[in-house]
Amino acid sequence: MKKQITGYALLAGVCILFVLYALAKNYIVDPGAEGFLIHKTELTRELNLPVWLNVMYIHVAFACIAMLAGLLNFSNRFFEKSRKLHRINGYVYIVSVLLVVVTSGYMAPHATGGKVSSMGFNLLNLIWPAITITALVHIKKKRILQHRNWMIRSYAFCFTNMAIHLITTLFHQGFGFTYSGSYTIGVYGAIALLLVIPEIIIRYLRRK
Ligand code: HEM
Repeated sequence: MKKQITGYALLAGVCILFVLYALAKNYIVDPGAEGFLIHKTELTRELNLPVWLNVMYIHVAFACIAMLAGLLNFSNRFFEKSRKLHRINGYVYIVSVLLVVVTSGYMAPHATGGKVSSMGFNLLNLIWPAITITALVHIKKKRILQHRNWMIRSYAFCFTNMAIHLITTLFHQGFGFTYSGSYTIGVYGAIALLLVIPEIIIRYLRRK
């Protein structure tokens, strides 16, 4: 029991810090995304900057809502208090995921790293909603355990941006790769990690 609380508290701490960081960085510190756009050296399509920025603001807002809504719904205490709120918050999560994916669909063709990165993002745009809808279908059929497992798989993708940037930094700063090359590795590395880590967590929870 103690371990479970510690694990959730750790998750909550990481999520809250990351959301605060994402909001501060993208709306206050660098609202023009200059630090990020400077690396777009392989653009094949013209970027409409004001539109891209607005889409990015919507993207970040709903990504943060998805992260917090998901976090809340993994809380046993919240679930026990009100199943109705769990259900409403679950729909908030699903709508947020869909809006992150729609905005991602706009940004993907202009992705840093060119076509290969774009393909990775488009793959994510298919995987994430499919996994999330699978979780919904399971609970509609009252399969609680499968619902929980598929939600763990879905929630992992809330960490896409964090994983991409951690891997990019490792390859760019650590191994001296170009930024755009590192970013492409970041996109595919994130997909692989975020598919594998939930399986490890699910196996661990099953054994417990
Ligand atoms: C849920 C957590 C997420 C957050 C907080 C987030 C945040 C951001 C931010 C701040 C950017 C601007 C560039 C940067 O600083 O990286 C961005 C770009 C982007 N995100 Fe997300 N994102 C998240 C998840 C996702 C997911 C799951 C997808 C795909 C389904 C996605 C697709 C994209 C795409 C395509 C771009 C443009 C990349 C580029 O221009 O190179 N994001 N995101």
